Amino acid sequence: VSNDNQSVLSAYEWLTKLYHHLLRYAKDGKEGYQYFKDRGISDEAIDIFQLGYAPNLKEFTAEFLNKKGFNQAILVKAGLLSLQDDNSVTDRFRGRVMFPIRNNLGKTIGFGGRTISGGDPKYLNSAESELFQKSKLLYNFDLAKKHIRKENEVILFEGYMDVISAYQADIKNVIATLGTSLTEGQAKLLKRYVDTVIICYDGDKAGLEATYKAANLLRKVGCQIKVANLKDNMDPDNFIKMHGGEAFNNEVIQASDTYISFYMRYLMKDYNLSLEGDRITYIEAVVKELAMVESSVEREYYLQQLSKEYNISVETLASELQGHRQKVG
Ligand code: UTP
Ligand code: MN
Ligand code: MN
Ligand code: MN
Ligand code: MN
Repeated sequence: VSNDNQSVLSAYEWLTKLYHHLLRYAKDGKEGYQYFKDRGISDEAIDIFQLGYAPNLKEFTAEFLNKKGFNQAILVKAGLLSLQDDNSVTDRFRGRVMFPIRNNLGKTIGFGGRTISGGDPKYLNSAESELFQKSKLLYNFDLAKKHIRKENEVILFEGYMDVISAYQADIKNVIATLGTSLTEGQAKLLKRYVDTVIICYDGDKAGLEATYKAANLLRKVGCQIKVANLKDNMDPDNFIKMHGGEAFNNEVIQASDTYISFYMRYLMKDYNLSLEGDRITYIEAVVKELAMVESSVEREYYLQQLSKEYNISVETLASELQGHRQKVG
């Protein structure tokens, strides 16, 4: 670690403590504390995740770090402070609740800051830097690791709040990407720790698309996957708030789909199954995908299901499938 990075790490450590202290104990952080209370986050979770508040002031953080003797140019480069046109330096995070993003060793190397007043963007993250590379990080991986190993399963979410809500509900093998799609590097990292990844993205269109991409990336690196099915634009945090952690575990996580079931659901959005032509291409697409499934029991299971549902003989479906398998080799 270079001297500059060492200095940035130290700044992050100070700020994590400062923002957390403000939120927890100071008048200046009351709005942030209230925000988390309104969202049902316990003091314990606030402490575990070191959640904080950056006051809505122009130079609060800049002055604090200046007094500590930090070099401003380094902090600007790290994206902790913003350089203005007149060369003055102002705070990047203002009036936001702060989510420290920890590396594998539990050290803060970036922040996600959420507006509490409807500002734009909803979440502002630290700028990309040598230290903070979103494509290589997974939120909460440091705390989740031992639970992931124990369960031999990891639950992948979209958001920080999903992770915190689940963790608070005693579901601890949980991680999230940092507002980007899952990368191959992240998928490979997971593969080193775990066999099965349960993808549990938001129940909206963006979530469905992101699930498709993540699922195939994870399969490519050799992970088994399951796909949770959240409906009605719910996200995991909403669901847990509304129905509790036990219902989330039983009705969402344990009830996760196989990849094929997910794929059928995913394909549906592009087809109008009341049209014959669409129905046929849909069935062909599913069979093609089924041809890649290793387990013959699983293949047979879905062939039966398709056969019943669309009134096509299992023999015909099986011979179509066999054709694809020969191509696969
Ligand atoms: P969501 O909008 O689903 O976040 O984005 P959320 O956790 O449900 O937000 P709440 O519940 O309204 O607080 C998922 C993730 O995408 C990133 C963040 O990491 C967020 O947790 N994101 C989202 C951004 O980086 N910027 C944004 O403006 C929005
Ligand atoms: Mn604390
Ligand atoms: Mn979302
Ligand atoms: Mn969400
Ligand atoms: Mn949410």
